[in-house]
Amino acid sequence: MEIKELNTSPRVLMGPGPSDMHPRVYKALATPMIGHLDPEFVTIMNEVKTMVQATFKTQNNLTFVVSAPGSAGMETCLVNLLEPGDEALICIHGVFGGRMADIAERCGAKVHKVEQEWGKPIDPQQVKAALENCDPKIVAIVHAETSTGVKQPLEEISKMVHDKGALLVVDAVTSYCGTELEVDKWGIDAIYSGTQKCLSAPPGLSPVSFSDRAVEVLRNRKTKVQSWFLDLSLVMNYWAGAKRAYHHTAPISQVFALREAYRLVLEEGLENRFRRHYETHLLLKEGLEELGFRYLVDEKYRLPMLNSVFLPEGLDEEPLRKLMLEKYNIEVGGGLGAFAGKLWRIGLMGHSCDANHVNMLLSALRKEMK
Ligand SMILES: Cc1ncc(COP(=O)(O)O)c(C=O)c1O
Repeated sequence: MEIKELNTSPRVLMGPGPSDMHPRVYKALATPMIGHLDPEFVTIMNEVKTMVQATFKTQNNLTFVVSAPGSAGMETCLVNLLEPGDEALICIHGVFGGRMADIAERCGAKVHKVEQEWGKPIDPQQVKAALENCDPKIVAIVHAETSTGVKQPLEEISKMVHDKGALLVVDAVTSYCGTELEVDKWGIDAIYSGTQKCLSAPPGLSPVSFSDRAVEVLRNRKTKVQSWFLDLSLVMNYWAGAKRAYHHTAPISQVFALREAYRLVLEEGLENRFRRHYETHLLLKEGLEELGFRYLVDEKYRLPMLNSVFLPEGLDEEPLRKLMLEKYNIEVGGGLGAFAGKLWRIGLMGHSCDANHVNMLLSALRKEMK
């Protein structure tokens, strides 16, 4: 079998991630290789850490990038904070809350669940009621549920969690760098994200951060973390130790690319970036509604970067989605879990979030829906 030179189609990425990347990020990705303990790479890691802190809006010292995708960020938070027998309260209003509960169970935790109908946010009163009946070490919740397009308000829940003496763990894979997120101000104790969404860097890395309260919990562990690779007590000597010790070989090229993606975010400014995401979402919404699409989520809780929409009556989602990809090179996402085959998830993330992308999709749809 002859394997030809790699030659992928020029896709326009408007699904739930990955998103398109800026030419400067591609250029950084092609930077010649250096060693992962090279003093120059150590400087780059320090620079990246500073930019993770700035974008998470945190002073947390234990802030770095896990060398694996968002799911590994999720595992990093849970396997380090939970020990067998601990109680954990997991909020589930879509696929990713369910994944957190699965991981927490695998840690040997006694998992309590707060569940909400998909497409709606968790009501703080649900958390309040659940906290009256358990004594969790952590409460975990998804800020931007990519399976539904719901933006979850966090501040009121954060206060309840802390009043109960628990830690708040937040999934910000999709919201990070696309909508308001305040790690310190909102009292988030452990947070993880991904690089392939509103950051528009290559997939495969996960920025994380832990509050001092969370670090205290880590220090007081009685058992070893089950995962060697994700054990923070070991990883940290690599990311933040006074003398960088080998832990694993970092995905160096991806870190180069991530550094450039962060530089782009900070050049634009977080507030401007959030505004761009919101305004582009409004543009898309107007065009989609004219065509007869209908949003799943109530306007108040809609994510700008993840638009979950039902197709107009009589239109089959899969053939039209396939046509968008094959004829127009435009990728949009189908439904996940309970919404598989029922709706589209249209992403407007990072470098994929502008009027050109919206116009490309809308004009292709107008042509095919005539
Ligand atoms: C909310 C949320 N959490 C976690 C993940 C897992 O991230 P990854 O696919 O990078 O492992 C995703 C991925 O889409 C996500 O949207």
